Amino acid sequence: MPDILVLYYSRGGSVAALARQIARGIESVEGMQARLRTVPPVAAITQAAAPPVPPEGAPYVERQDLADCAGLLLGSPTRFGNMAAPMKHFLDGTGAEWASGTLVGKPAAVFTSTASMHGGQESTLLSMHLPLLHHGCLIVGLPFTEAALSSTTAGGTPYGASHVAGPGDDPALAEVEASLARALGRRVAWLARKLSA
Ligand SMILES: Cc1cc2nc3c(=O)[nH]c(=O)nc-3n(C[C@H](O)[C@H](O)[C@H](O)COP(=O)(O)O)c2cc1C
Repeated sequence: MPDILVLYYSRGGSVAALARQIARGIESVEGMQARLRTVPPVAAITQAAAPPVPPEGAPYVERQDLADCAGLLLGSPTRFGNMAAPMKHFLDGTGAEWASGTLVGKPAAVFTSTASMHGGQESTLLSMHLPLLHHGCLIVGLPFTEAALSSTTAGGTPYGASHVAGPGDDPALAEVEASLARALGRRVAWLARKLSA
């Protein structure tokens, strides 16, 4: 059974915390395994090459990860109501995968973190769906049968998992955010398993 790719960018640790919960959700589905990967930062002018291996956390994504995965989840901090440049930069380099249909028919979902409650989570999540639709992915969200979705006063949306880090940028997830992140990972893994059965 191929892996589910959890590809994210995180500077302060909030999106990384969501990624770990999503991985737990994926691995709660029998036979399914999470593959955590990140993207390097970008600079307006090249100041220094990124280290070949990140000093800590998930390894950098490779094109083969896109080919190998049975489904994927993309995570990015919200930056001005949109995904962060390093994730967009990575996606802009996936023309070859788009041309060859590498991701066509694979289930995919998204996740984000913001400083403020109304700081653009939904616009970020919806805009992250767009490149996935161009790639032919099957977009997966969270259904309201997840009771926590109706009761959350923190993150967690039907469009994807999320965290409200607050003005202090605290990466510690509320339990409801963690459980909805696990539910999203579980749902992508469950669907990927069904599709490849
Ligand atoms: C350039 C920049 C733009 C940001 N834009 C927003 C925004 O539009 N709305 C918001 O609520 N937070 C915004 N933030 C805050 C981040 O989304 C928030 O700190 C997030 O939790 C960071 O995730 P990370 O810890 O995984 O890096 C912005 C941060 C930066 C650096």
